Amino acid sequence: MTRDDGRENANALDDVFSARDSIFSEKRLLDVGHVPEPEHIAARNEEIRRLASALNPAVTGETPSNVFLYGKTGSGKSLCAGYATNQIVDTASENGVSVGRVVVDCSQENTETRAIRAMVRRLNDSEKTGLVVPETGVGRSQYYEQLWDVLDTRFDVVLTVLDEVDCLEDDDILLQLSRATEAGKIDRCSVGLVGISNKIKYRSQLRERVKSSLQEREIVFTPYNREDLHAILNNRTAAFGADVLSEDVVSECASLAAEEHGDARKAINLLRHAGELASSDGSDALTVEHVRDATTLAERDRFRALFAGATIQQKATLLAVVSLALVEKTRTFKTPDVYAAYEDVCADTGLEALSKRRVHDLLREWEFLEVLDITRTGGGRARGSHLRHRLLEDPSVILSVFDESDRFAGVGVAAGTTRTTWSNI
Ligand SMILES: Nc1ncnc2c1ncn2[C@@H]1O[C@H](COP(=O)(O)OP(=O)(O)O)[C@@H](O)[C@H]1O
Ligand SMILES: [Mg+2]
Repeated sequence: MTRDDGRENANALDDVFSARDSIFSEKRLLDVGHVPEPEHIAARNEEIRRLASALNPAVTGETPSNVFLYGKTGSGKSLCAGYATNQIVDTASENGVSVGRVVVDCSQENTETRAIRAMVRRLNDSEKTGLVVPETGVGRSQYYEQLWDVLDTRFDVVLTVLDEVDCLEDDDILLQLSRATEAGKIDRCSVGLVGISNKIKYRSQLRERVKSSLQEREIVFTPYNREDLHAILNNRTAAFGADVLSEDVVSECASLAAEEHGDARKAINLLRHAGELASSDGSDALTVEHVRDATTLAERDRFRALFAGATIQQKATLLAVVSLALVEKTRTFKTPDVYAAYEDVCADTGLEALSKRRVHDLLREWEFLEVLDITRTGGGRARGSHLRHRLLEDPSVILSVFDESDRFAGVGVAAGTTRTTWSNI
């Protein structure tokens, strides 16, 4: 290499490390945690209106209705609950009414004690209450005592948002909070509950006592359609530089996301991934191809995370189905074929083959993760009925992740080839 070549190379690499980005101008608008400005919340007017009408009594210091929001992930439940409760706090304060608000993520604070502790620690202001809420060494009933204390000293109304409420170990907290006034635990302050769950059947798991005490309203968030997602994405175009994003690209993102899931989080991620691809290949603008490539990347990322959390045997069972699907993409596969393919995978990887029953249990775990669909055909559990396994993800995407691991690299294809020969016989 001559000195000139070296200099040229250094120049070519210059812009790789430059702070300027030709694609993004404000990338944080596409971050998972970014909360859009109220005027940038699209397509949820009706849900917000109903939420507001349930919570509105709080504005004048009256008791609000409890309300539960249901819907799949990425349908805007947390966003709308956050927005509506904030609005109530602000409007109430203009009226001289003090409304407190606390959001508890029950997937993190998943026991009654932890959730109550999180609530009281956030709602407390030790300068005003003189109360110190310890992090440890205190039991559930003491946290409750402190909570009632804080509520009555500080607020007229408190709105408690229990996000991912189905992750709580039991429903006692719902009973305690909804009965607090009636049970004489608090007298000045009243409590409004906003529960949020991805599981539409959550309510049926609650005890009758809890249901009758809650008397909650229910709002269902349906998945977003193409137009909704288009509007949501359009509100984030400021993330990109001028002339980087075209109408075609936004439409493609919205269509793909609407067809697949109707999830706003994934649609926004898709746009960000497409932007990152454009940025890394040195383009000045996003193309529809960038979006399509990004869907594959997103799928691979998602699967990579699931893969990392799976055991070796669990991986082997999935690889069996993948090897079959590589040969016949649209087909569903019967248990004996899946098990035979699994035995091939075990033979190729030096794993000991588990029983059919165990393999079935492991496949059910993939079904739970929505990688696999398992249906019984032939009617009920009667003789002649059997299970059909169908892969819900692109087998070549899954295989590419298997190929990244030492143990499974190259294995699925080999098993798949064996199968082709079989079905040709
Ligand atoms: N109607 C909407 N307008 C703008 N952004 C939205 C909308 N709905 C969802 N989002 C964005 O999509 C992501 C997922 O929304 P989120 O409220 O967390 O969904 P959920 O709680 O139903 O899983 C968030 O980043 C949120 O800001
Ligand atoms: Mg949420």
